[in-house]
Amino acid sequence: MATYLIRHTPRLSGEVEVSTAKNAVLPILAAGLLTEDPLIIKEVPRITDVETLVSILRDCGAEVNRSGADLSVCALQPQSPQNEERMRKLRASILILGPILARTGSACVGLPGGCAIGQRPIDLHLKGLQALGAQGHPLGGMRQLSGRLTGARIYLDLPSVGATENLMMAAVLAQGNTVIENAAKEPHIVDLANFLNSMGADIRGAGTDTIKIRGVEHMHGCNYSIIPDQIEAGTYMVAAAATDGNVLIKNVIPKHLESISAKLLEIGCEIEESDDAVRVVASKPLTHTHVKTLPYPGFPTDMQPQITVTLGLSKGTSIVTESIFENRFKYVDELTRMGANIKVEGNTAIIDGVPGYTGASISAPDLRAGAALVIAALAAEGITTIDDIKYIERGYEDFHLKLASLGAQIDKISTE
Ligand code: EPZ
Repeated sequence: MATYLIRHTPRLSGEVEVSTAKNAVLPILAAGLLTEDPLIIKEVPRITDVETLVSILRDCGAEVNRSGADLSVCALQPQSPQNEERMRKLRASILILGPILARTGSACVGLPGGCAIGQRPIDLHLKGLQALGAQGHPLGGMRQLSGRLTGARIYLDLPSVGATENLMMAAVLAQGNTVIENAAKEPHIVDLANFLNSMGADIRGAGTDTIKIRGVEHMHGCNYSIIPDQIEAGTYMVAAAATDGNVLIKNVIPKHLESISAKLLEIGCEIEESDDAVRVVASKPLTHTHVKTLPYPGFPTDMQPQITVTLGLSKGTSIVTESIFENRFKYVDELTRMGANIKVEGNTAIIDGVPGYTGASISAPDLRAGAALVIAALAAEGITTIDDIKYIERGYEDFHLKLASLGAQIDKISTE
């Protein structure tokens, strides 16, 4: 177990470099199962979700080695993983289903886990794979699927990121053409499609709501660099806003941050963009606004806790509506203990800004809420301890070190 000990930080300032995107690295690692050739994924962040997925890939028979910041993957003869319990450690574990099925014609995997922010079923994944010709049935806590995949037209009832990724990876080796309609358009969908095309796939339309895939016979190895992490960048942008800071966030793609920059401008921050960096300056009191989480290019659900924390310190009444997950306001109880004035009604939070938070002993309920509570603790008067930081370390590389480099008074304490 480990805990963050955080003292009031009047102002974050300086420069911070964003790592590559967790939610792009994870499907791309799973896609390594699609070829027997070795491939190199460059500058992979050292976060526990990557470590867990690497151990699942090894359980599938792949050879995965880290060389400095890069990971090499080679899956000569992939098989279904034996360790069901490990599948429950993260949501992205379900992304091995499409590749193993496409490569071997049969897969039996445990159900995924992930942040407890909603029910998070996999019905769209299974429905799409069945449309591609896989027959399947539940097998206790596992899902068994088999069949030679053939191209199909698939309509997703909602633009599921994971289902789009799984079905893209399944379709690249299917016989014939596949169209995925109402597909997710997140930056990591485009990155996965680019990676698959680097391996010899024929995918067009990624980033739009219609993705067309022409099945190929064989996929080959490649070297690939991942996009910067949109949500990590947004987290540091909002941390600057919440602490009256002045921070340059480097190694970003500003286009991916448009919705976050727009909201920070609305509440009174200054935003300066260059080709691969964004500066956030909060030099005057922040004011209220309304936010609704939506699929990309809307405001990201993974930034909802962070912006809520900042709106809790902004003058006036703000409203945040969570339209993607049905249980993503759990952290509000912890934030209330720090003095926030927030009322949650269904999927809406009504936020009356307060002059400041006060330190408390709290716990991180999940990855993004944990990061948001760290931001609240930096802005709070007094001292805050945050337990269960393992959730935060699932998705943020060197989080406390990067914050400390911006002047944050934050220490990681092992509580063994
Ligand atoms: C991915 O989760 C991300 N995780 C999540 O980030 C992110 O919040 C989410 O996309 C939305 O952007 C990874 O990429 C590893 P969805 P995923 O399928 O794929 C429902 C983080 O903090 N749904 O787009 O699970 C689902 O219940 C994490 O980095 C079905 O009903 O998201 C949810 O309400 C948290 N049936 C909505 O769709 C399905 O078969 C969006 O889920 C699949 C999803």
